[in-house]
Amino acid sequence: MSASHPHAHAHRAASGDRHHDAIAPVEAELPEFRSQDYGRYDAEAHDVWQILFARRMATLADTASQVFLDGMARIGLEPERVPDLREVNRRLDASTGWNAVGVDGFIPAEQFFRCLSRRRFPTTLIVRPRAQLDYLPEPDIFHDVFGHVPLHADPVFADFLQRFGALAAAARTPEETTQMARLFWFTVEFGLIRERGAVRIYGSGLISSHGDAANALGPKVERRPFSLDAVINQPFAIDHFQDVLFVVEHFDQLFDAVETLTQRQRTVQRE
Ligand SMILES: [Fe+2]
Repeated sequence: MSASHPHAHAHRAASGDRHHDAIAPVEAELPEFRSQDYGRYDAEAHDVWQILFARRMATLADTASQVFLDGMARIGLEPERVPDLREVNRRLDASTGWNAVGVDGFIPAEQFFRCLSRRRFPTTLIVRPRAQLDYLPEPDIFHDVFGHVPLHADPVFADFLQRFGALAAAARTPEETTQMARLFWFTVEFGLIRERGAVRIYGSGLISSHGDAANALGPKVERRPFSLDAVINQPFAIDHFQDVLFVVEHFDQLFDAVETLTQRQRTVQRE
């Protein structure tokens, strides 16, 4: 499958077709949230969830970060049925104050980041059709909730993602926007972490996709130690498997990276 398409928010942030030099309205809007009409999921939707869940969990016990596995248990995702976001959020909100909020597909990057800064994770509500189990052009609830949301139950990652959102929403130059998109891509979407002596996956693009995960842990990828400067200077491709990924030793490194970037951008703005 393509390595890229579920990760449209980062891609969108990186694209050059928006006018980042324009000053955004001070009170720019959040997207319109959609409530999840749970009764509308049909048998196929629950089947697709069940198939994808079983496929990924068959290897994630050995390949995923323990932080992901613990988070999944904490938010109570179930193998047999599409998650009910009210139930997920009851547990998640009690853990870290994060919530998964329904949106209709694409939302502008700045709105997406602003949601993160408020501990709201914009989540697609649709389930991919059975005919597109392995390939879909846009995110679905499996990528967004199975792939992303378990990490939001971890206090360090939860703080990192909120700070990231605040900084990314405030980006004012193409350079800042590119840096934030790269940081997002190489951590939230495609991040690796060393745990118990082995490199494991935590990025949602890897968690939710067997092909991307196998590539990330396989011989074709150069796995470099995470550093802020290495990441923000590393271009990424959205239309094929990754060639370079970055490994953290602990999620504190992510939090520290955002703090450093925040200080730098403040310094630049004062000059
Ligand atoms: Fe994603």
